[in-house]
Amino acid sequence: MTQTRTFTVVDENSQPICELPVFNGTLGPDVIDVQALYRKTGMFTFDPGFNSTASCASDITYIDGEKGILLYRGYPIEQLAERGTFLEVCHLLLYNELPTTDELTAFEQNITMHTMVHDQLTNFFKGFRRDAHPMAIMVGVVGALSAFYHDALDINSKRDRDLSAIRLIAKVPTIVAMCHKYSVGLPFMYPNNKLSYVENFMRMMFATPCDDYIPNPVLVRALDRILILHADHEQNASTSTVRLAGSSGANPYACITAGIACLWGAAHGGANEAVLNMLQQIGDVSEIPKFIARAKDKNDSFRLMGFGHRVYKNYDPRAKLMRATCYEVLEELGLHDDKLFKLALELERIALEDPYFIEKKLYPNVDFYSGIVLHALGIPTNMFTAIFAMGRSIGWIAHWDEMISDPDQRIGRPRQLYTGETRRDLPSQHR
Ligand code: CMC
Repeated sequence: MTQTRTFTVVDENSQPICELPVFNGTLGPDVIDVQALYRKTGMFTFDPGFNSTASCASDITYIDGEKGILLYRGYPIEQLAERGTFLEVCHLLLYNELPTTDELTAFEQNITMHTMVHDQLTNFFKGFRRDAHPMAIMVGVVGALSAFYHDALDINSKRDRDLSAIRLIAKVPTIVAMCHKYSVGLPFMYPNNKLSYVENFMRMMFATPCDDYIPNPVLVRALDRILILHADHEQNASTSTVRLAGSSGANPYACITAGIACLWGAAHGGANEAVLNMLQQIGDVSEIPKFIARAKDKNDSFRLMGFGHRVYKNYDPRAKLMRATCYEVLEELGLHDDKLFKLALELERIALEDPYFIEKKLYPNVDFYSGIVLHALGIPTNMFTAIFAMGRSIGWIAHWDEMISDPDQRIGRPRQLYTGETRRDLPSQHR
C-alpha cells in the first residue's frame, strides 16, 4: 500500500484540525488512515458493523460488490471455478500462487497423509446427543484438535503454521463426515488414500462398512465447485472473527473454531440450511405469493432466505456459477420434476420479476443454489453449514496466517461510543 495524499479533518468553521494519510491498494477504494485521529482530535470513528472500515490490509481476496467481481489472489472466480480444483485453490490462497503439476501432486499427497484424525478424538463424539446440530459438534471437535496436535502450535514458527494449515484442510472434511455418521447412528468411515479430496469426503459421508460408495463425477465436480465458491470472501463476519481471535495469539484450531461459531448464524453460513427449511415451510408453489408478501411486509420479520447480500448489490458472481451447477446436477439426477426443486425454481422466477426485490437489488445469492445442490446430492439439511465451513476453512487459515506473518500485527481492540449511565454511587443503605 502506498500513501497518495492526505485527508484534512476540519472543524465546524472549516478550520483544519488534523491531516490524516490516505493509502491506496492495488484495487478498490482508497482508505483514510485514522490511527492518529484519537491522538490528534480526542475522537473515535463510529462505524457499527464495520461497513465503512478496512480492518486490515490483505493480499488474498478482492471483491467489487457493485460490479459483481470476486478475485482470489487476482484470479477471477469464474476461471477458478470452471478450470481449477478446490485443492489448487487452497494452494493459491495459502501460498499466493497456483501450484505447478509437481507442486500440486506433492500438496495433494501431503493433505491425503493428514486426513485421519487421532483415534482418541472419536471419543469426543460420544459426549454429544445424537440429535445435536452438526455445527455444535464442529465447534467442540475442531476446537479439541488443539489438544491433539500441540506439537505444532508455535504461531511464530512458519513450519508450525504450515503444518497446522495442512492438518486443518485435511481433517475438517473427516470431522464433517463424522458429524453426519454420528447423527444417523452409523459407524465412522476412515479416509481412503486412493481417492481425491472430494471423492474421499463423499465416500466418508455415504459409504458404510457394508456398502461402498462409487462417487459420480458430475456430483464430485459439483461439490468441488461449492468448496471453491465458498473458499474465501475477504473480511466477512467469520473471517473477521478468526482474525480477531487470532490477534491475541490464540492457536489456529481455536481461531478456526471461532470462525465456525460465527458462520453458523442464518445471516451468514446458516443461510443455505435456512433456504431448504424455508422451501419446506412454503411447501407448495401455490403458497409462494403468500411468502413473497410476508418478505415484503415491514412488520413481518420473515425474509426470503438465499436472497440479498451485504456486498453484492447487483449480482453475486458465485450465484451465477452455482446456478449452472444446480441445473447440471438436477439434469444428472433427473430431478427436474421433483416438487421441492420446482418450488425453488418458481420462487427464483417470481422474486426476480418482483419490483420489491428488483428495486432493493435482492438477487439469489450463492447459498440459494448451493442449498438446492446439496439437497440433490443427498446431504441432510442440517449438514449444509458444516459443508460451507469445510470450504471456508482454507480462507480462514490463509487470513490467519497472513495476519500472524505481519510484523506490525497487534491485538484487535475496537472502541465504542458509551451510551450507558454516567458515574453514580451505590445508595447509602446498600450493604
Ligand atoms: N428478503 C426480504 N427483504 C430483504 C432481504 C430478504 N432476503 N434481504 C434484505 N431485505 C430488505 C431489508 O428488509 C431492507 O429493507 P428496507 O430498506 O425497506 O429496510 C433492505 O432489503 C436492505 O436490507 P439490509 O438488511 O439492510 O441489507 P444487508 O446488506 O444488511 O443484509 C443480508 C444482507 C444477506 C443479511 C440480507 O439480505 C439477508 O438477511 N438475506 C437473507 C439471508 C441470506 O441469504 N444470507 C446469506 C448471505 S450469502 C452467504 C454469505 O456470504 O455468508
